[in-house]
Amino acid sequence: MLVLGIESSCDETGVALYHSERGLLAHRLHSQIAMHTEYGGVVPELASRDHIRRVLPLTESCLEEAGTALADVDAIAYTQGPGLAGALLVGASVANALGFALQKPVIGVHHLEGHLLSPLLAEPRPAFPFVALLVSGGHTQLMAVRGIGDYELLGETVDDAAGEAFDKSAKLLDLGYPGGPALSKLAEQGDPKRFKLPRPMLHSGDLEFSFSGLKTAVLNLVQQQSPLDDATRADICAAFQEAIVEVLTKKCLAALKQTGMQRLVIAGGVGANKQLRAGLDDAAAKRRYQVFYPPLALCTDNGAMIAYAGAMRLKYAQHDYSYGAKPRWALA
Ligand code: KG4
Ligand code: ZN
Repeated sequence: MLVLGIESSCDETGVALYHSERGLLAHRLHSQIAMHTEYGGVVPELASRDHIRRVLPLTESCLEEAGTALADVDAIAYTQGPGLAGALLVGASVANALGFALQKPVIGVHHLEGHLLSPLLAEPRPAFPFVALLVSGGHTQLMAVRGIGDYELLGETVDDAAGEAFDKSAKLLDLGYPGGPALSKLAEQGDPKRFKLPRPMLHSGDLEFSFSGLKTAVLNLVQQQSPLDDATRADICAAFQEAIVEVLTKKCLAALKQTGMQRLVIAGGVGANKQLRAGLDDAAAKRRYQVFYPPLALCTDNGAMIAYAGAMRLKYAQHDYSYGAKPRWALA
């Protein structure tokens, strides 16, 4: 079974070919970050137009790399939601047009299910059940995953997502957009102990998160320390990163304890963060938990996770054949 996957929910056009026996045959990504940088955030209309320009050339390039023809594709999976309505409609329209022309099934995939299953694209593959931490620019959720399509929401952020907190704090520190990776890089040179930032909801006794107060604490610190010299900027980055990593790590451990599960899967863009990985690895090793990450290239939005989730849905679970986009859509 050969599945073509198309991701266009936000500012990345991703296309991939996943074969159920041979694995990932090709994947291509075009990031629009450079285009949106001058506006300090994603401009939805520009995003949609760029997806239109990129999606077919990326598809052709994938087919070429895999040495296969469009006619060999057995199913087409696309991100049906959540995301930007116009951007989602591009993927939906292209997928459905190809499906109609080829007379092949078209599957609408939940973007977060793609992220959630992306660690299964690499070895070692986590076995079910596992706890998944989804940490991206739009979401921060803990899920109990018992099988394909069997997801239980354990807790989520009540305000900003972790990636959003990284990006907003980076903006306050003049680190550009999206500043998560830049903030994390600068944090490596900083002293995390010079400033003490809050650990929101660390002792709330549940699996909910809150990150907007942390961003406000960064704002206060920036105002207090202005004008910022390079060392202070790096120290604020280090303090921020330490706070967010501590909260994420402790809540993951609490979720493992609550569910009695032994395996933890990290998915979404913030999963690329080195200090988060080091913190989780360290905490898990002490308690004999196993932690799984997607390959770095598949941490952020991509077509491979959508092709894979589509293939899994076709094989093991129900799927949605309805046409269209679902800008707001809960996974569980
Ligand atoms: O999963 P993703 O590509 O898109 C969404 O669905 O949101 O995640 C993007 C988010 C952004 O907020 C970005 O700043 C953050 O992931 N991110 C990072 C790192 N790499 C990406 N945050 C912290 N450290 C990183 N190394
Ligand atoms: Zn994403």
